[in-house]
Amino acid sequence: MSNVELTDVKTLRERARKHVEHGAVTEGYSADREQILRLLNETLATEWVCALRYKRHYYMASGIKASVAADEFLEHATQELEHADKLAERIVQLGGEPDLNPDNLSKNSHAQYVAGKNLKEMVLEDLVAERIAIDSYREIIQYIGESDPTTRRIFEDILAQEEEHADDMADLLKGL
Ligand SMILES: [Fe+2]
Ligand SMILES: [Fe+2]
Repeated sequence: MSNVELTDVKTLRERARKHVEHGAVTEGYSADREQILRLLNETLATEWVCALRYKRHYYMASGIKASVAADEFLEHATQELEHADKLAERIVQLGGEPDLNPDNLSKNSHAQYVAGKNLKEMVLEDLVAERIAIDSYREIIQYIGESDPTTRRIFEDILAQEEEHADDMADLLKGL
């Protein structure tokens, strides 16, 4: 048992009735909402930049008949966009707005868009981008701590998949 003090039902009910316009954001929300929204939007940009980079790599690898790599690139592109959707939904739940302005995506993204001149360079750049995402998401999870469990869980789920992506790229790189 932790030493968290539970709020009595009467207070919980009264609090819930106040500021109903805030939707899912209640009085007990203890995170810095503006800061969480900024981190969510930076991550949203990272996911889009990664999806675009994987798409580019998918088309280029298909062209040079590197079908195993192409399949991986396409799968990752699809999954990065699923991550982006989860983040955008959470941004709206917290009363923010997802920034999908193309001019802002590469500015806000932690990972970079590198086209890559050949298959090896593409896989290497994807691995680097995944490693950036892994470090940045892990830090965000630590920053959120107990203050916003739902957002933290979203980051934890995405982090687990980025680790799989990095592993896939590292395996591919060995064969090149
Ligand atoms: Fe992702
Ligand atoms: Fe990824």
